[in-house]
Amino acid sequence: MTAKQNARALLCALLFVGELLLAGSLSSQGMRGTIRKESFGKAASGEQIDLYTLSNEKGLEVAITNFGATVVVLKVPDRTGKAADVVLGFDALEGYENGTAYFGATVGRYGNRIGGGKFSIDGRTYTLPKNNGDNTLHGGIVGFDKKVWKAREIASKGGESLEFSYLSADGEEGFPGNLSVKVVFALPADRNELKIDYTATTDKDTVLNLTNHSYFNLAGEGKGDILDHVLTLHAKQFTPVDKTLIPTGELRDVAGTPMDFTRATAIGKRINENNEQLVFGKGYDHNWVIASEGRKGLTLAAEAYDPKSGRTLEVLTTEPGVQFYSGNFLDGSKGKANKAYGQRAAFCLETQHFPDSPNHPNFPSTLLKAHSVFRSQTVFRFSTK
Ligand code: GLA
Repeated sequence: MTAKQNARALLCALLFVGELLLAGSLSSQGMRGTIRKESFGKAASGEQIDLYTLSNEKGLEVAITNFGATVVVLKVPDRTGKAADVVLGFDALEGYENGTAYFGATVGRYGNRIGGGKFSIDGRTYTLPKNNGDNTLHGGIVGFDKKVWKAREIASKGGESLEFSYLSADGEEGFPGNLSVKVVFALPADRNELKIDYTATTDKDTVLNLTNHSYFNLAGEGKGDILDHVLTLHAKQFTPVDKTLIPTGELRDVAGTPMDFTRATAIGKRINENNEQLVFGKGYDHNWVIASEGRKGLTLAAEAYDPKSGRTLEVLTTEPGVQFYSGNFLDGSKGKANKAYGQRAAFCLETQHFPDSPNHPNFPSTLLKAHSVFRSQTVFRFSTK
């Protein structure tokens, strides 16, 4: 090393130590939110499950468990500053272990449906267990939502994050390759947003479609239906489905149909129209093609607004699609504080690649090549109007 290189290395080391000290002092002064870790019980498998609560000074609070890397609580202020929990879920681990609605969960390996539970890579066909009629939904019988993830708390001066990792073994639920997945949830200190970063690598070519399945009711969970919420989807096309909710392969214009949310429209305005797609979905349960206008990177996909509380959710993503699901299968089963979650008590905006992409070469590819790295980011950003 030359003297110049030596000096540079020393400077880097000093900066790094400085950064550590700064992070430490910020934490002791309580200048960033503090992660609270508590027990969420023992899983049926005997594994210890924890609940981590992150908060910031802008009033956002989020609780996430390592069971399914699941968002359990998301408290957001309304226009008067009063916070409410805007996501459906359960008070105890048992609800998540037995639940079938994927409340708040990280969904994988393949979010949404794979038609006929089959796909091929390089001429080799892979057969998956079917858990939704003739199709495979949300990763199969035991998807990522039911797995115990390894958690790591990450502190930085910009806010608090939690990293969850999981190693999905070659052949799990029929998918090829040992897949190593990481999901990082970050709550910035100075902005009311929850940022989710996904990364994954595999040792064999495989397919992958990760998403978060939070069910939002911006009035507060358990406070009636979301039909008055006003939704904008920045999408000129959607992927129509057959009656089993598998895409036909067509990209269809939304213009002139009840699927058109390019202008802010109440979710309930057209939901009961006699439209084939709405009949198939029992409401909205479709993938919209996000209009990225040639931009790469984070794109504003959707905005939802509750006129009563003023709470507004913007969804930004690097993914090409978003599944807008209007909670059609919610059946009045009990959730937090014994509240009944009836049909359309919440909506989901699941950022994703399109459903059944492995069987539609015209869709953006969900193939993850061996030893390459998958990256994806989604931001749930809150404000009030
Ligand atoms: C997705 C699917 C729906 C339903 C929900 C979970 O949104 O598209 O059909 O399975 O998840 O109940």
